[in-house]
Amino acid sequence: MIYITRRERFNAAHRLYRPEYSDEKNLEVFGKCSNPNWHGHNYELFVTVKGEVDEKTGFLVNLKNLSKIIREEVIDKIDHKNINLEVDFMADNMASTENLAIGIWNQLEHKIKQLGAELHCVKIYESENNFVEYFGENR
Ligand code: NI
Repeated sequence: MIYITRRERFNAAHRLYRPEYSDEKNLEVFGKCSNPNWHGHNYELFVTVKGEVDEKTGFLVNLKNLSKIIREEVIDKIDHKNINLEVDFMADNMASTENLAIGIWNQLEHKIKQLGAELHCVKIYESENNFVEYFGENR
C-alpha cells in the first residue's frame, strides 16, 4: 500500500453563525468567523489517496487525473465563492472546516475509486495554525 497527496488551494468566504443567536452570542460561540459581513480564508486542501503501484507506469494514480477530479468536483465549485450561499455540496451545512472536509470527501470518494485508488484523507488548513483531517466514516 502506498499513499500519495495532491495539494490544491482555494479562497472562499464564509460565516459561522446560528440565525437564532444574537450577534453577541454568535461572536461568543464562533469568534471572528461570525462576522455578519462575511470574511474569507485562504484554504489549503491536501487530498491523500492510497493503493498499489501500477507495474507498467510506476504510478499509484496519474496525478494529472487526480488534480482534474479535485478541480472539477471541488475547486471550481468553491474557489472565490461564498461557502454559505453558493457551494452546492455545503448547502444546509454549517460552513466549518470540519464540515468542509466531510463535504469534500463526499465529492471525491467515488471519483477517486474510478481512478483505481482509494481516498485516504482530506486535510484542510483554514489558517496557518488550524487544520482538520477526515479519514471517512468506517475507521
Ligand atoms: Ni472564518
